[in-house]
Amino acid sequence: MHPMLTIAVKAARRAGGVINRATRDLDALTVTRKQHNDFVSEVDKAAEVAIIETLLDAYPKHAILAEESGAQGDSEFLWIIDPLDGTTNFLHGFPQYAVSIALEHNGVLSQAVIYDPGRNDLFTASRGGGAFLNDRRLRVSKRKQLDDALIGTGFPFRDFTHLDAYMAMFRDMVQKTAGVRRPGSAALDLAYTAAGRFDGFWEIGLSKWDIAAGCLLVQESGGLVSDFSGNEKHMESGNIVAGNPRIFHQLLQTLAPHLTEGLRIG
Ligand code: IPD
Ligand code: CA
Ligand code: CA
Repeated sequence: MHPMLTIAVKAARRAGGVINRATRDLDALTVTRKQHNDFVSEVDKAAEVAIIETLLDAYPKHAILAEESGAQGDSEFLWIIDPLDGTTNFLHGFPQYAVSIALEHNGVLSQAVIYDPGRNDLFTASRGGGAFLNDRRLRVSKRKQLDDALIGTGFPFRDFTHLDAYMAMFRDMVQKTAGVRRPGSAALDLAYTAAGRFDGFWEIGLSKWDIAAGCLLVQESGGLVSDFSGNEKHMESGNIVAGNPRIFHQLLQTLAPHLTEGLRIG
């Protein structure tokens, strides 16, 4: 394992410990509303502190972009961190959430960890080195037809600018696929796409920390990732399509008629 990935795994497991301990008494947590339908708990913050401490202990000069504390440092190495992806699920005791940590080197994703602490499932990837779930090599699914495909998505829940476009996409997907699921953690949705549990995934308006690690996992499992126009602006726009190569192209075709100008750009 690449030494930087080893450190990222150590950081993710420490954060997972913080999260697992907190599940014993969810009612005791202090929860703050960041904005409409956007909650943060002391667990998100404590998990993030544990991750950043572990990373900077090993690599004091590296830069950080983390959901709760923002950006720090200036370096060719940038760690992109979501300490708890799926906070709403976590707060409800709904067991679908994860820690997501990615490393960019000179703007290129190079290492990725997504850790599901409830199941002790560790998804890892290194650029050029493949993707793994625990010790098992991951491959995207082999399904060829959209009507056989199980597709993951996320509903808009904070910002409703694109709700009409989303509902039109959703209507089409429900009719053209074998099923659509909204588990509630974009990081795990992408990890599941890498693992072939989902044949594809799309969502509007995600943040870098939701998708950075998941993108590398999908690519290293033989899948494709892009924005809604098939370009590589998904990390900037947060509008993302991913899947095995066949399903990915059919997803892009299905979304195309529903793209407004804002969604076409990225
Ligand atoms: C959220 C989850 C969810 C997605 C949201 C994200 P958070 O992350 O990934 O699946 O639909 O857009 O913000 O806020 O729980 O870290
Ligand atoms: Ca997130
Ligand atoms: Ca989060």
